[in-house]
Amino acid sequence: MRKYLIAGNWKMNMGPSEAKEMADELAAAWKGKTFNSEALICPPYVSIPFVVKAFRDTAFQTGSQNVHTKDNGAYTGEISTTMLKELTCSYVIVGHSERREYFGETDEVVAAKTHRVLQEELNAIVCVGEKLEQRKDNSYKNVVKKQVAAALEAGDSNDADRFVIAYEPVWAIGTGETATAEQAQEMHEYIRSLITETWGGEASDKVRILYGGSMKPGNAEELLSQKDVDGGLIGGASLKADSFSEILEIAERINK
Ligand code: 13P
Repeated sequence: MRKYLIAGNWKMNMGPSEAKEMADELAAAWKGKTFNSEALICPPYVSIPFVVKAFRDTAFQTGSQNVHTKDNGAYTGEISTTMLKELTCSYVIVGHSERREYFGETDEVVAAKTHRVLQEELNAIVCVGEKLEQRKDNSYKNVVKKQVAAALEAGDSNDADRFVIAYEPVWAIGTGETATAEQAQEMHEYIRSLITETWGGEASDKVRILYGGSMKPGNAEELLSQKDVDGGLIGGASLKADSFSEILEIAERINK
């Protein structure tokens, strides 16, 4: 039985004071309530301590949007898994399409980061997804296959519980355009079949596959109801406590 993971990726939004305000709002809204899903917020690095503090005594978790492969040393501007662990982060997003596009992260870099995260016993959310032209020219499955294969090489079947894939079609990110529930299910099922081929059926059954790309309260129910959709990686709609809570409530209601 896979638990839903409802994860907010705040991207480069929410400095410390705004982050604290919204995390306090979430903590207050869910005060005293338990949930079956896992709920996670990934703020910018500088805001992580404030969110961690606001989430103390709640079931909300805090994660990071990125990490470096080394533990420490002369890597100006970088942050390590050790530092994130000290802040009690539990998840790290790796290989988001914006990092692949604007910061030159290749499948190899993404695999190295994933390896580091898994080795350090943190949970990795590895992002994969095709661009619009790849969807149009029908190469999208091959593109995603290559990305998934590289990520799977970074670990093994023993990591299945801590390995999450986020399928985020680039054409659906921040555009308001969402993959249809059928398109999402088709890709999630395909990704699970790739995991089965490499790590075996028992492991692939444990791996959660999130959908990301304009998920919001209005479309979350349909997407989350799909057999192989195990949660969401939410950008825009995670920036308001109300809409993030609404998506979490939907996951709790379905609770498949
Ligand atoms: P949006 O929900 O804003 O489309 O962003 C999705 C995303 O990139 C989450 O990582």
